[in-house]
Amino acid sequence: MPDTLHSNRPALPPEIARRRTFAIISHPDAGKTTLTEKFLLFGGAIQMAGQVRAKGEARRTRSDFMKMEQERGISVSASAMSFDFRHYRFNLVDTPGHSDFSEDTYRTLTAVDAAIMVIDGAKGVESQTRKLFEVCRLRDLPILTFCNKMDRESRDTFEIIDEIQENLAIDVAPASWPIGMGREFIGAYDLLHDRLEIMDRADRNKVAETVQITGLDDPKLADHVPPELLKKLREEVEMARELLPAFDRQSFLEGHMTPIWFGSAINSFGVRELMDGMGEYGPEPQPQRAAERVIAPEETAVTGFVFKVQANMDPKHRDRVAFVRLASGHFERGMKLTHVRTGKPMAVSNPVLFLAADRELAEEAWAGDIIGIPNHGQLRIGDALTEGEKLRFTGIPSFAPELLQGVRAGDPMKAKHLEKALMQFAEEGAAKVFKPMIGSGFIVGVVGALQFEVLASRIEQEYSLPVRFEGSQFTSARWVAGPKAELDRFINVNKGHIATDHDGDIVYLTRLQWDIDRIQRDYPELKLTATKEMMV
Ligand code: G4P
Repeated sequence: MPDTLHSNRPALPPEIARRRTFAIISHPDAGKTTLTEKFLLFGGAIQMAGQVRAKGEARRTRSDFMKMEQERGISVSASAMSFDFRHYRFNLVDTPGHSDFSEDTYRTLTAVDAAIMVIDGAKGVESQTRKLFEVCRLRDLPILTFCNKMDRESRDTFEIIDEIQENLAIDVAPASWPIGMGREFIGAYDLLHDRLEIMDRADRNKVAETVQITGLDDPKLADHVPPELLKKLREEVEMARELLPAFDRQSFLEGHMTPIWFGSAINSFGVRELMDGMGEYGPEPQPQRAAERVIAPEETAVTGFVFKVQANMDPKHRDRVAFVRLASGHFERGMKLTHVRTGKPMAVSNPVLFLAADRELAEEAWAGDIIGIPNHGQLRIGDALTEGEKLRFTGIPSFAPELLQGVRAGDPMKAKHLEKALMQFAEEGAAKVFKPMIGSGFIVGVVGALQFEVLASRIEQEYSLPVRFEGSQFTSARWVAGPKAELDRFINVNKGHIATDHDGDIVYLTRLQWDIDRIQRDYPELKLTATKEMMV
């Protein structure tokens, strides 16, 4: 991240300063979907929390927002949603839900300025939470923690905090302190504002009652908290104030400290305080780094980068939507931007802003916002859009495919369909697809084994095409570039190992590192790389 990130920067224009762009990270089942839904509810974006839910892994193969749309009958259909809360504009970016390592997740986290980490109070820090946390740490993202499901038997509060501190090596500052747990859970003490928040057990969608008090000695506390719990609360808070660090915004913004709220998403408890925390302490849109220079959000020229491409948002139309994080400026609909990779002008006449109620035409957007640009495949992950300046945004990772498998359509007559499906996934960045020069079929490269399953199920669902993945004779792929004559000579003698990717670029496939070393020796002018930079 830019060095200038948290240093004293000039005040941003108010429209930019009120934006908070963030993602929610968690282990499956911790409550991310429920929390998202409550955010939308408090953000006025939906009227009522839904009820219908599917069980198990099936509902996690696609984006959680999509899952909500399908199962709860609300129309969200998006990877990013915008809504207002108090005077803030929240942009919540969805992270894919499947539990394997996912490239998508990494890229998504390049588009946000902060993250909310949801943990289950009974389970603590789980494997997926840890992985995602590490990605956030790589980018020094500020993280707010929400300890969910306090209405169930949970671990001791100190134990939870200790586990986070030790497991994730981050300071934890309690922003609230739970009062009771499980069936006895009645609410929380807001340590940042000296307030008592009482949960309403009767109505899950009702926000907590707030009791303003002067501190833990306020006799008013006894009117709301039973004596046993009050005694425990006073002891614990005293201990916490002695043993745990106090909230320090600077340390939080630098990614060294996380404030933690205790609540119950399903009971709408603690959610509003968490949202207030994001608004009050969360980072404003941050500068973004490009190879050429750092781009400040307040710059007047519009710049942005594509961090995700999603196809088939509407199965009837095979269009794609490129999700663009605006890095700077004030975008207005109809603007002509330069698509830096091709150098071509692009009139952005129908951008969409994902207000939770539905996709809406974005009349305007500011630095920090995420807009969707429908297109027919021109916009690729990593692409920059500017008002003419040649910029190459950095930090959007490209991954070397580590697992290769062949893929065939169950019905050999459907090979063309399969090719189309695979090309779409390659453009989305969901997999690398190689077409060997000799023979039929395709070879697909992914980073995590589960991605094969996800792909197979998506191809079947979206293209009604049963497919079979099978072992490949190759285990490594290298992109090859160099002077044309040398490249041609190389291709001619290695035909059985040559394939092209979805851009038509040359890839060398092998199972031996020895082969790769030999080529580098025999063809000194050729360059072999394990990843293809997604940008020019
Ligand atoms: P995820 O997106 O992180 O995978 O989690 P999700 O919100 O789908 O929640 C997982 C399960 O945890 C759901 O139960 C949900 O109702 C429940 N849950 C979420 N927040 C709370 C909470 O504060 N307290 C309690 N007790 N449960 C919570 P499920 O059995 O999978 O679905 P459902 O049948 O309850 O809808």
